[in-house]
Amino acid sequence: MRRLLVAGNWKMHGNSASVKALLAGLVNLTWQQQVDIAVFPPALFIVEAVQSLKDTPIIIGAQDCAIESKEAALTGEIAASQLVDVGCQLVLIGHSERRLLLGDTDSILIEKFKAAQAQQLKPVLCIGETQQQRENNQTFAVITSQLNSIMDTLSIDVLANAIIAYEPVWAIGTGLTATPEQAQEVHSFIRSLIAEKNEAIAQKIQILYGGSVKADNAQALFAMPDIDGGLIGGASLNADEFGAIYRIAGNK
Ligand code: 13P
Repeated sequence: MRRLLVAGNWKMHGNSASVKALLAGLVNLTWQQQVDIAVFPPALFIVEAVQSLKDTPIIIGAQDCAIESKEAALTGEIAASQLVDVGCQLVLIGHSERRLLLGDTDSILIEKFKAAQAQQLKPVLCIGETQQQRENNQTFAVITSQLNSIMDTLSIDVLANAIIAYEPVWAIGTGLTATPEQAQEVHSFIRSLIAEKNEAIAQKIQILYGGSVKADNAQALFAMPDIDGGLIGGASLNADEFGAIYRIAGNK
């Protein structure tokens, strides 16, 4: 049985006051033995999050890392080694906002994925189709190509130490959620693609769903057999709502 993970991607949200309040709310959640919980604050607030959450089970992640794994002359970037040094254990790789707006191509993402693992920072590989791709029946082709880009270049074995997040772009920040059946269909497809190469890794890997997950739709999504938790955007900015989603995960 795979453990569930409920993870909050804060994106480019938060300021000194709101982050302090959010962290104070997270400290007061009731911990669940059977569910993992993580947050991905903006880089500016990672150190504060690590300090504030040090007595909690909350894992800290970064939203991106550099293509170089160690310190280098790369203005504006953050190395995986630096993220690990301050207490990060996870890193998002290939969030759709970075793929679509910030130039993260498949070949850059291969480098970032590799850099993260070189420093024992666990990648959360984000994949998903746009609305247009779904309408053109290209969902499975897009997922296959995004996943193969990592599996074929780096080898299937790298997925033994990674997490996948399926985030349909049309469901991100739109209030439109994939139905549990739509999400399950893609999650099961992702697992089968991995299983073609390595059955044991496919059974073990956590596949999160992301895209307008809220307390009122989490139960139905998490009930699906191949959905192992959520990557939550907007709803993770409120400790009560995020806590409610975390509690719901505990009911699976
Ligand atoms: P929303 O939950 O705000 O739709 O964002 C999802 C997401 O992109 C998480 O990475």
